[in-house]
Amino acid sequence: MIDKIKAHIDEVKAFSTDKVEELEVFKNKFLSKKNGLVTEFFKEFKNIPPENKKQFGQVVNNLKNAVEDKFNEIKEKLEEQNDKDVEIDLTLPGETISLGSQHPVTVVKRQIVEIFKKIGFVAIDSPEIDDDFHNFSALNFPPEHPARDMQDTFFVEQNPDVVLRTHTSNGQIRFMENHKPPFKVIIPGRTYRNEDISARSHFMFHQIEGLYVDENVSFIDLKQTLMYFAKEFFGPKTKVRFRPSYFPFTEPSAEMDVSCSICSGSGCNICKHSGWLEILGSGIVDTNVLENVNIDSKKYSGYAFGLGIERIVMLKYGVKDIRYLFENDMRFLSQFEHI
Ligand code: PHE
Repeated sequence: MIDKIKAHIDEVKAFSTDKVEELEVFKNKFLSKKNGLVTEFFKEFKNIPPENKKQFGQVVNNLKNAVEDKFNEIKEKLEEQNDKDVEIDLTLPGETISLGSQHPVTVVKRQIVEIFKKIGFVAIDSPEIDDDFHNFSALNFPPEHPARDMQDTFFVEQNPDVVLRTHTSNGQIRFMENHKPPFKVIIPGRTYRNEDISARSHFMFHQIEGLYVDENVSFIDLKQTLMYFAKEFFGPKTKVRFRPSYFPFTEPSAEMDVSCSICSGSGCNICKHSGWLEILGSGIVDTNVLENVNIDSKKYSGYAFGLGIERIVMLKYGVKDIRYLFENDMRFLSQFEHI
């Protein structure tokens, strides 16, 4: 029996092939769990007289190792050969890599930030989760103001309140706490309000806040800056108009409309046939707000504004439903690849 196994070892050592199929057959002949020779020999083990068991075991193991070594050696050779056989045609055109594109909200955000950077604004960040002080109190919201209501605000914690910020105006406070005027900052970011989702509103949206504080800043500076922005962004023929409004943190306050860039003011569905589109809220920073962050309101004054990015994306690209902006449907998003 031992001689028979040794003969197999010689057979294994001499084996050679250049075909994967033959290599498989070779392997199975010896190592197949069902009826491979090595398996069969191991089954014989119990019939071998005790004094020969050790030698028998060793020889069968040698056979098993020889088969495995041979198999690995040939397999490696075949794989190397395979790699060499693949010819590379350098004249073939390359495979096009499909590039991702920027989300329309990002595109518009960057355009707006660039426009303000040109006139000296510096872009900064502020937290999306903030406390009541920065989102409301320091901005002069009276304790019972309806905007703090559960209806509008997502509370992360209560008593003391921590909220998902309802506007980027918290960034005004965050910045003014740590900086002395003069400064001009622009604060883009995501904001949240507990509102029903519809074609025109969402519980999550983006704003860009602007803040300028210096000596003698007046409403004229605010108007000029926003007029410059409107013409840069929507085109030189754009007209603007200001309507009186109310925000707790600005006094006086105004909302700004731009002439409809879709119909140039003649009336269309997007501007609801009024010829005007509302794009932002603004005003002169309330003296209470400056005092809340220890800025001398007798020496300094400032203006602030906040615009909604989705609104502007929808106007600029004629997007009729805000939900398209958050559904990540490739059929929608891929339309913005070239802007
Ligand atoms: N924070 C206001 C809003 O969310 C917008 C605003 C910002 C108004 C700055 C005036 C000044 O509607």
